Amino acid sequence: GRPELGEVEGILLSQATCNEWQRIQGFQARPDDLLICTYPKAGTTWIQEIVDMIQQDGDLEKCKRAPVHRRHPFIEWARPPQPSGVEQAEAMPPPRTLKTHLPVKLLPPSFWEQQCKETPPLRSQLWDPPGAPVVSESDPCWGDLPQHTHTAPQPRLCSRCCLPALSAAVGWGPWHDHVKGWWKAKETHCVLFLFYEDMKKDPKHEIQKVARFLGKNLDQELLEKIVYHTSFDVMKDNPMANRSGVSLSIMDQSISPFMRKGTVGDWKNHFTVAQNERFEEDYEEKMAGTNLTFCMEL
Ligand code: A3P
Repeated sequence: GRPELGEVEGILLSQATCNEWQRIQGFQARPDDLLICTYPKAGTTWIQEIVDMIQQDGDLEKCKRAPVHRRHPFIEWARPPQPSGVEQAEAMPPPRTLKTHLPVKLLPPSFWEQQCKETPPLRSQLWDPPGAPVVSESDPCWGDLPQHTHTAPQPRLCSRCCLPALSAAVGWGPWHDHVKGWWKAKETHCVLFLFYEDMKKDPKHEIQKVARFLGKNLDQELLEKIVYHTSFDVMKDNPMANRSGVSLSIMDQSISPFMRKGTVGDWKNHFTVAQNERFEEDYEEKMAGTNLTFCMEL
């Protein structure tokens, strides 16, 4: 079944994560930690593979040591009796690369104290939360959209995140608050902000940017190797990168593969004109007053 949900400061998280909350908040970051901070479905797996390729100097064998989602602990992960994200991170030798979907306000305070490097790749696409109540049927504007799981096309994802009344019911909090929070954190902390759309448009440039952030300068050959290895088509066929074999109640890959489409603005193809208008209105309203802008199509 779907995971039971709980809440911390108004943010919906799995109940198991909520049960571990004190331990998560007390997590001790190190100054040499790298934290990948993404909104769910923003391209977490993609940036993980890129970072790993850079850190392993392009050594494919080393990158294949484990499936990508297991290489870097997810700090709020809790699924007893498996070791929690915190336990996995504590058992890792430094320098550690960790990941989280938490909004800024819920990040364990020691990350700020230690000035860790954070990389949130953002994406103007949204996500279907684990176990969030099925809500769109209650709204005639969205009711004709098909039912989806975690990996399915974007329309429901947008409807959940963008309808004012529903956005609180999204795991890890509303998308808008997440991106605006990290965008602001960039003013005072060492945060490299990446956009999914830029990575699609010019992966070479963006990957070199990540490398420099990590203190490396990639030569052309290595850069091209990483661009190739982390492209959608190659990752889709790489069992260590495509999350094949991952079976979760919230991610049924027989319905829709994890590496679904990897494109920008796909929801527009699924929305009606009215739905697109409503989406845009809501987007404008919630993103007003920030200089953070997303490219909605390439
Ligand atoms: P789609 O469902 O639009 O295809 P996350 O890892 O945060 O769950 O994000 C998953 C999304 O990132 C999926 O989007 C997936 O296809 C996309 N993705 C994963 N690897 C990618 C790559 N190499 N290039 C482009 N998109 C990628």
